Amino acid sequence: MRVYDIIYKKRNGNEISKEEIEFIINNYVNGKIPDYQVSALLMAIFFRGMDFKETLNLTLAMTNSGETYKLDDLDLPTVDKHSTGGVGDKISIPLVPIVTSFDVIVPMMSGRGLGHTGGTLDKLEAIPNFKVNFGKEDFFDLLRKNKAAMIGQSEKIAPADRKLYALRDVTATVDSISLITASIMSKKIAEGAENLVFDVKYGSGAFMKEKENAEKLAGYLVKVSNIAGRNADFVLSDMNTPLGQMIGNRLEIIESIEILKGQGPKDTTDLTEELGAKMLVLAGIYEDMGTAKKEIQKRYETGLYLDRFRKIIELQEGNPKVIDDYNIMIPSEYRYEFKSDKDGIIIKEDAYLFGMAALVTGAGRERKEDEIDHSCGIELLKKEGENVSRNETILIIHYNNEAKLRNSLKYIKKGISIE
Ligand code: URA
Repeated sequence: MRVYDIIYKKRNGNEISKEEIEFIINNYVNGKIPDYQVSALLMAIFFRGMDFKETLNLTLAMTNSGETYKLDDLDLPTVDKHSTGGVGDKISIPLVPIVTSFDVIVPMMSGRGLGHTGGTLDKLEAIPNFKVNFGKEDFFDLLRKNKAAMIGQSEKIAPADRKLYALRDVTATVDSISLITASIMSKKIAEGAENLVFDVKYGSGAFMKEKENAEKLAGYLVKVSNIAGRNADFVLSDMNTPLGQMIGNRLEIIESIEILKGQGPKDTTDLTEELGAKMLVLAGIYEDMGTAKKEIQKRYETGLYLDRFRKIIELQEGNPKVIDDYNIMIPSEYRYEFKSDKDGIIIKEDAYLFGMAALVTGAGRERKEDEIDHSCGIELLKKEGENVSRNETILIIHYNNEAKLRNSLKYIKKGISIE
């Protein structure tokens, strides 16, 4: 087999076979095929697409590039949720304590933020000493002891995805339905959860700008899951405007804890309950969404969710005092109040531009090796659709550096419209 012939075939819009896909993946992972040939193939896939059969074969080849975990000998049902990524999307954090309080295991393996989207691991690391790197033994130990693990993907899970994702990121080939499906599903199948719920985002802050493409992606994710023997369901959610009021790592931990108290903003609380209910229904705890949601809502006032989160933090070596004292996470040195210049209605707070505005304060990274400043970010006091008066504060930028503040303000001014 020649790599050239496979690139040529896909470039001309033809289907590539299971054997050809396996040949590419295996030899790319072991270093025999160079980045430049795989880049060309990724671009051909981006423009020509892959049909479902090719997408499935790519997913399985990527899954088999590393270790696969089996969770079926744990005594309880296992369920995980995966979001396709967004701005202010901290939902994984409250979901784990909520769902595991119903005697379900959640093996949450998450990623880091890149570009305008945040990552669960970076957010968790805003909690002093919180550890996210655990090997296989420790991962199983956390699940057995506490039903929850909120950790990073081990080096051994889907190594093909690790390599391909880095290449896609620098060759403008991330936002392809087939490549996203294979990337997400190779990790999810390898991680081993029996039930999977996908939060597929669409809009300016998402990989899929159009709702129809998000629907197609959701269909692929569910179909691949089912073929791999997993139950799966999805929620399509709007990512045209940031989720919740907080963007940035420390701030998003605060909002997550507020959700667990039953005091979170309505949009984040609603989405948490929707996804949580789907997870509980798939795991067989409740038969219908209505009952599952009601049961979730009943428990806020018991303090059970906060206890669960405290225990998760303790077992992952973080400081659980954060739950009662947010200043355990050191706040930024400065705050800038961005005020309205007129009376009116906020008709737009653009998720992509607000995500960038948070990133440049130090909350995110443009390149993989960039350091995160956990204390920085944006707090939205007023959200899209709300009235504002002249001189009223719309949002607060948490920052440590004047130049970064100026840069952030450029994005905010572009991203907001008041009429
Ligand atoms: N999340 C992933 O894990 N992979 C993608 O390709 C996109 C989002």
